[in-house]
Amino acid sequence: MTIKSRIRSIPDYPKKGIMFRDITTLIKDPVGFRLVIDNLTQHYLQNGVDFDVIVGIEARGFIIGGALSYALGKGFVPVRKPGKLPADVASQKYELEYGSDTIEIHIDALEEGSRVLLVDDLLATGGTALAAAALVEKVGGVVAEMAFIVNLPDVGGEQRILDKGYSIFSLTDFE
Ligand code: HPA
Repeated sequence: MTIKSRIRSIPDYPKKGIMFRDITTLIKDPVGFRLVIDNLTQHYLQNGVDFDVIVGIEARGFIIGGALSYALGKGFVPVRKPGKLPADVASQKYELEYGSDTIEIHIDALEEGSRVLLVDDLLATGGTALAAAALVEKVGGVVAEMAFIVNLPDVGGEQRILDKGYSIFSLTDFE
């Protein structure tokens, strides 16, 4: 059984016409979770992308980013929803299909010039990932790469992100 075959697809969630790719079935499976972290770990041990710290995006980016940080011996920095971080923060607003959202990072979270691996579970429109990249840069970091379990290339986020000059690594695609 592969990573992809452990991901559950739920039609019409959160609304009609959306096929939701649900990674909870992947990571509740101990072999599945280990496959995810081991594949990402091997990629970053072998391919030479040089980075200092992992930045994970709330909430599912914490699960993957936390385990990957531990496996690679890197620190972990959270990007959170508004009002959750206790010290001074930088904020970034981004557009959703309906309305907008904001994410935050501690202003002292990163050393000036530190190289960041940005981690989330899934890439769809790329809105959250690009907002997180903007936050990293606001507080002095440099985005070395963005890593995801799932890429949904048809939604367009991958192209948006590549167009802005960032690099992406993902473990599986869904059409
Ligand atoms: N799964 C999980 N998160 C998402 C999806 C999805 O299919 N699309 C946008 N965010």
